[in-house]
Amino acid sequence: MTRQETRSASETEALGAELAATLQPGDVVSLSGDLGAGKTTFVRGAARALGVSGPVTSPTFTIGHSYAASGAIKRVTHLDLYRLGSLSDEDPDLLADYLGPDTVAFIEWPAIAERELELLGRSARRVTLSHAGGDSRVVEIQ
Ligand SMILES: Nc1ncnc2c1ncn2[C@@H]1O[C@H](COP(=O)(O)OP(=O)(O)OP(=O)(O)O)[C@@H](O)[C@H]1O
Ligand SMILES: [Mg+2]
Repeated sequence: MTRQETRSASETEALGAELAATLQPGDVVSLSGDLGAGKTTFVRGAARALGVSGPVTSPTFTIGHSYAASGAIKRVTHLDLYRLGSLSDEDPDLLADYLGPDTVAFIEWPAIAERELELLGRSARRVTLSHAGGDSRVVEIQ
């Protein structure tokens, strides 16, 4: 596990880019941490490093966004499960649509889907972000 402190959004994006360099097609990255801790910011840096062009924003009207990437990882998806009450009420393919052998998936607020992700057999990298006063954040990666 690594634990680093960042002092700006761009420093957190840079950590996302560093993690991106270690990812393989099919990987799932879960992101935990309070509102505004920087999860989406981290994903933006990672997505950029994987060749996603254009804005990377928080999913609002859908649970996720899907972006074309470049290289062995062909697609980057970004899910935010914050508003999802329970997966059992949902279409079973809801998550599956955002996962795949050529995809890297980033999942904010993953708790509700932990079991499904396990069942789908995806190896998860875990990122935890915490507020550390002002613009400081602690970023833990395992
Ligand atoms: N060190 C830092 N790292 C990341 N973001 C920072 C940092 N300092 C300030 N910020 C700001 O904090 C905000 C983080 O917002 P972001 O959407 O990334 O959080 P989030 O964890 O995804 O929140 P949510 O749970 O609402 O989706 C941004 O406005 C960003 O510019
Ligand atoms: Mg977010």
